[in-house]
Amino acid sequence: MKTIHEPHLMQREADDLRVAGKRIVLVPTMGALHGGHTALIREARTLGDVVVVTLFVNPAQFGEGEDYGRYPRDIERDALLASGAGGDLLFAPETTAMYPPGYQTFVNVERLSLRLEGAARPGHFRGVATVVAKLFNIARPHSAVFGQKDAQQVIVLRRMVRDLDLGVEIVVVPTLREQDGLAMSSRNVYLTPAQRVEAPVLYRSLRKAEDLIRSGERSAGAVVAAMTLEITGGSSAAIDYVSVADADTLDPLVTLSPGAPVLVSLAARFGTTRLIDNIHIRL
Ligand code: PAF
Repeated sequence: MKTIHEPHLMQREADDLRVAGKRIVLVPTMGALHGGHTALIREARTLGDVVVVTLFVNPAQFGEGEDYGRYPRDIERDALLASGAGGDLLFAPETTAMYPPGYQTFVNVERLSLRLEGAARPGHFRGVATVVAKLFNIARPHSAVFGQKDAQQVIVLRRMVRDLDLGVEIVVVPTLREQDGLAMSSRNVYLTPAQRVEAPVLYRSLRKAEDLIRSGERSAGAVVAAMTLEITGGSSAAIDYVSVADADTLDPLVTLSPGAPVLVSLAARFGTTRLIDNIHIRL
């Protein structure tokens, strides 16, 4: 698999592909690829002529004390997985190529970035939006594929694409889960065996929320309380947030009303490992 490290060389390649009439599909990742990522790449394969997979652990989206330093990095393994899933090109820049000395331009999707993950991880979405805008400018994709597991990321990036007229189609692939329901994540490798046994409680709490809502519960507070009980009763996890929100605006809901798209989401810590998950429900 051809690997490109320099942004200007990736840009040249992308321009040549566009001139040749090729449709470019981008799969941005931070590496540590797992089944969730290969599902994104397989979806990308069906959407265009050239699938560009990016590997870049983006320092701008990690806060102080988060896992930037220990985030798993293994480019050879990732290249094999990416090409096996149908990737054509790998773009794996150095940090200094993306953020050279003197770098000072950032993209801020204002309100949406303050909710949920943004409230728990200040500055996170500024880093995500900035790097994805750069990756769009570098790889010039027609479409880009993201996972539903990072639901807020998708909502923020869709807003960015609309607001900045970036002209990139955002495609979303459902969350891939292990057999016991745990959402696939590069951070699952941090879990101790005991924590790994407990972690599926997160998905069970989401299923509980869905069951409650489908059987007529309309109070967001009651749904949050039931999820909280499920998580704290069945594990040692510390909850960062459990939320029932409008899936477009991310505004917290008090009452669920018919027709409204609902995002039920959560973040919880098992020791130092922070996991997120969500489901979408339309009433
Ligand atoms: O979802 C991720 O892995 C990252 O947030 C992304 C989109 C690759 C930006 O660094």
